[in-house]
Amino acid sequence: MSWDSLIRPELEPMRPYQPGLRASQVRERSGVEHVLKLSSNEYPVGPVPAAVRAIREIATHVNRYPDGGSEALRDKLAAHLGVDHETVVVGNGSNELLRLIGQVVLRPGDEVVYSWPSFVVYPMVADMFGAKKVVVPLAPGQVYDLDAMLDAITDATRVVFLCNPNNPTGTIYGREAFARFLAKVPDHVLVVVDEAYFEFVTDPDYPDGLASFDGKRPLVVLRTFSKIYSLAGLRVGYGVLPLPLAEAIHKVREPFNVNMAGQAAAFASLDDQIEVARRREENQEQKTYLYSCFDRLGIRYVESHTNFVWFETEWPVEVFEALLHRGVIARDFGNTPALRLGVGTPDDTRATIAAFEAIVSDLGGI
Ligand SMILES: Cc1ncc(COP(=O)(O)O)c(C=O)c1O
Repeated sequence: MSWDSLIRPELEPMRPYQPGLRASQVRERSGVEHVLKLSSNEYPVGPVPAAVRAIREIATHVNRYPDGGSEALRDKLAAHLGVDHETVVVGNGSNELLRLIGQVVLRPGDEVVYSWPSFVVYPMVADMFGAKKVVVPLAPGQVYDLDAMLDAITDATRVVFLCNPNNPTGTIYGREAFARFLAKVPDHVLVVVDEAYFEFVTDPDYPDGLASFDGKRPLVVLRTFSKIYSLAGLRVGYGVLPLPLAEAIHKVREPFNVNMAGQAAAFASLDDQIEVARRREENQEQKTYLYSCFDRLGIRYVESHTNFVWFETEWPVEVFEALLHRGVIARDFGNTPALRLGVGTPDDTRATIAAFEAIVSDLGGI
């Protein structure tokens, strides 16, 4: 028996997703007791109090299967977003929805257009379903070049992924560029707007993808409870999709794809928009402190619309290791001369700044 003939050949070039280092791994590796995990763009403190209560309350009910259609959560999301219940689909993280979209639309040989560097799951979804990857580099300033993405579209293009704000660079494209893109994108192309960091954005030029959703044009908007809502560990993301696409996804998703605690916690979290606004503000303040440290130390960075900052370094491996050695876990991207650093609590920021000061003094620069 040959495994090669058993396993789909499209999977051969793929590599499993590599998550950022966990705090426990760093404690073991470097012996540092107090570790700051700033590698996965999580919110640095736990869920809102109502979500914690909801998780506690659900604990004694988990002998039952969850609501397979996430009906109550979808109702609440639909009201919160001002869209129809049927257009909302909830997933085991928005990551699951990215894969499900691939599963229902991509045929081998289709083309998938995305930018780079951007979220690593887009090329994975293309590979998974035997689609061809068409990569459009980010323009100078690490921003999306939507005109170049339009130029990359052919008759074979099935999906375009737009990450706004972009992970890992934290940049956004603006309203005018998006409107121009939507006016020109042909209607055989599904536009997937991934807004995982939507709630962190404060720039008035940021185009809310949902404002362009009319249920008819092939446009999907994805968001998540993993970031500002601090529910990454429970895996809840959602999308707003045209009805035929939502119905197709219901056919192929797992019957109980979102767990009971996740549904309950997400439901409760939506009521605390005051805390969401406070978090957005605190994130802005901490970013400003980080920028002032980077400015002082001569570290080049890209202004971010998210809870992470992309900064340049000629020695990404050395700087990554030096940060680890001081208990700060950043995210590296192979040979790319830059690292991504999550924004933490005020205490985290103070400790991070101290680590950068020590590293610059040791290495003479970054
Ligand atoms: C741009 C982007 N999209 C989607 C996700 C997936 O988030 P989740 O599956 O936790 O909802 C992430 C997670 O880091 C992300 O950065």
